[in-house]
Amino acid sequence: MKTIQIDLHRTNYRYQVKIGNRILSEVLTELLFNYTEKRIFVITNSTLHALYPEFSKTVIPKDIQAECLILPDGEQHKNLETVTQIIDFLVEKKANRQSIVIAFGGGVVGDISGFAASAFMRGISYVQIPTTLLSQVDSGIGGKTGINHKAGKNLIGAFKQPYQTIIDVSFLKTLPEREFIAGYAELIKHGIIRDPYLFQLLNQKNLQELKADEDLLIDSIFRSCEVKARVVEEDEMEASQRAILNFGHTFGHFLETYTNYQQLLHGEAVIIGMDFASWWSLQQGFLDKADFEIIHYHLCSLGISKTIPEVTKETFIRIVEYDKKFSREGIRFVGLTGIGQARIFDGVTADSLWDNLLTYIQSDALLKID
Ligand code: NAD
Ligand code: GLY
Repeated sequence: MKTIQIDLHRTNYRYQVKIGNRILSEVLTELLFNYTEKRIFVITNSTLHALYPEFSKTVIPKDIQAECLILPDGEQHKNLETVTQIIDFLVEKKANRQSIVIAFGGGVVGDISGFAASAFMRGISYVQIPTTLLSQVDSGIGGKTGINHKAGKNLIGAFKQPYQTIIDVSFLKTLPEREFIAGYAELIKHGIIRDPYLFQLLNQKNLQELKADEDLLIDSIFRSCEVKARVVEEDEMEASQRAILNFGHTFGHFLETYTNYQQLLHGEAVIIGMDFASWWSLQQGFLDKADFEIIHYHLCSLGISKTIPEVTKETFIRIVEYDKKFSREGIRFVGLTGIGQARIFDGVTADSLWDNLLTYIQSDALLKID
């Protein structure tokens, strides 16, 4: 088992991320050993409950009573109504300020349970047990919690770090292939922005080899979480450097919004967004051609190639400028100066990104326009 420690200086708070295969029962037993409340509040969804009906019985220590709330599956339920449902559940079950919420699921369950935990009685502890690759390398650590508003994704939220995060790769066995690739986007992202060794490690293998090689999977998830942990330690509230985690996200969010969240998973949009951001960096003269090509061919090998309906400049600019990464000074765009070296560029205009988009789609790009 591997452990990462995250130290947050702002609040003088620290927690651990445990990573391994079939570790959940052992880690939970240790975690709850001195827990006097003897009741925990498990939040999961219908898909996880169907796949792991014995979850509470098999991994939660015998002396602890598990109260379980099963949410409907899907991003469309990441909203205020579901938060109310969680709070109602906690009230009805007489949870108190010492209670612990266990979020067992992907990023949707983690974000919404974390947010409910941040609000209930002004904040109670929650443990993340992320079960998708995306949540294991990204949303399960770092403390961003939240829900969607009809005006935008993750528009309502709070920073609330978990009590602990337990990454058990055995859950990835049941994850659909498409979700695995979407999570891989964030895994490789951490290599591209900060860890050239991680990128190299993954670049030597294909996805099937990664899935089949438990040690490699654990090692790369560990390295990926290390990158995120160190960035979050440096800048928990995203005043500056944490923004490098948004590499590929400006263009990715544009694609998700433009296609109405119907055509692409978040990670798929991020794969194309990273390809675009690498192209942008090449065009600006920050990234050399050899590095661009290594990244580009790796992203191409993931088999994500999309065609979107024709887009006008006005629509592009409107969507890009509504993004959270836009301010009066312009867009905070994350580019590259090398593999493992992300850099934040402030004041990039939507106009200049549009010019790059025009040349990008003429290239051997992952994105085509009808
Ligand atoms: P998700 O939670 O919707 O999970 C994807 C699908 O996989 C769901 O149908 C889920 O039920 C299913 N699933 C989960 N675990 C499974 C397993 N082990 N086996 C089989 N099926 C399983 O999506 P996600 O990609 O995990 O997370 C996306 C969410 O995370 C978005 O809402 C996004 O905004 C959020 N996010 C948050 C952060 C953050 O820092 N808080 C970072 C990135 C993304
Ligand atoms: N997923 C980006 C972040 O946590 O900041």
